[in-house]
Amino acid sequence: MSASLALDQVDLRVRLGDVELAHPLLDASGTFDVLEYARRFEGDYYAAFPYAAYVPKTVTAEARTGNPAPRVTETPAGMINAIGLENPGIAAWIAGFGAWARLERPVIVSVGGNSPEHYAAVVRALEAHLAAAPAGSCPDIRGYELNVSCPNVSSGLQIGADPAASAAVVGAVRPLTRRLLLTKLTPNVSDVTAVARAVVAAGSDGVSLVNTFKAMALDRETLRPFLGNRTGGLCGPAIKPIALRMVADVAEALPDVPVVGMGGVMTGLDALEFIACGATAVAVGAANFTAFEAPRRILDELRAELAARGLRTPAAARGLALRA
Ligand SMILES: Cc1cc2nc3c(=O)[nH]c(=O)nc-3n(C[C@H](O)[C@H](O)[C@H](O)COP(=O)(O)O)c2cc1C
Repeated sequence: MSASLALDQVDLRVRLGDVELAHPLLDASGTFDVLEYARRFEGDYYAAFPYAAYVPKTVTAEARTGNPAPRVTETPAGMINAIGLENPGIAAWIAGFGAWARLERPVIVSVGGNSPEHYAAVVRALEAHLAAAPAGSCPDIRGYELNVSCPNVSSGLQIGADPAASAAVVGAVRPLTRRLLLTKLTPNVSDVTAVARAVVAAGSDGVSLVNTFKAMALDRETLRPFLGNRTGGLCGPAIKPIALRMVADVAEALPDVPVVGMGGVMTGLDALEFIACGATAVAVGAANFTAFEAPRRILDELRAELAARGLRTPAAARGLALRA
């Protein structure tokens, strides 16, 4: 290993497709709300925002009320959520832009739906709005993350579990935008690389992984399912080793494709491990629920971990864990 560096010798900038990021950390969709954090921050939160880009909660064409309560439960080393993509729908979501348009970060919009047409409707509405809106009235939307974890309307199965269905979503959206297109992969598959290959072949510029693992928790008194939806998605430190393996599998299969890695990142070393497994950027999810300061701490730790190893940039660490 090379000699250690001073902290200010580390250059954290990365490039995710055509989007320049000041550092590799993003928030994981659904775990961080800019408006909520701005209300709790003393000072200009929109300038001091801790993530290099903002990924809001998944938005769908129509409003969704989400799943019945309870929707979240803690587990050893993780949490299970079954929020059910509650969101106001794309029209109301766009109408709320004014409240956070001055966020000084690129925004990657997470899009959900139950069919290719649903995804296309969201992107079409947003592109039309951005084309017509006066300068400064919208957040700096630079890309999309297609969350293919929703069930398919025709089969009921998760779109993201089927390479062809996932590719059809990308195929419906790709002609509608020139912005960065990421597809967020589900880990609930036996071969994540098959889905990654299919979405990239259909025009996705990169992939994000992992979403949550299908899971269940019981009420200890009744021994009935605890969550109102019966099942939910497990995230947090419990999933990190599996997420690292999946990121490494995809990075080895598609070495030129940018990957946003996530799953249980609680420290800067966790983030560095995802980069070593081939990720260009790293998203932080469950850690946001532990402390307001978590993202800034993880970023400081990532810088220190790189410096201690004499690694000047995240790119110098990328892929260190992959086969030669
Ligand atoms: C409460 C909660 C809500 C979430 N909502 C979404 C969502 O709307 N869209 C999405 O793509 N992922 C959603 N996720 C999944 C996260 O973005 C992330 O993929 C997952 O939690 C793994 O990262 P982590 O272990 O760091 O939390 C949600 C996760 C949690 C805990």
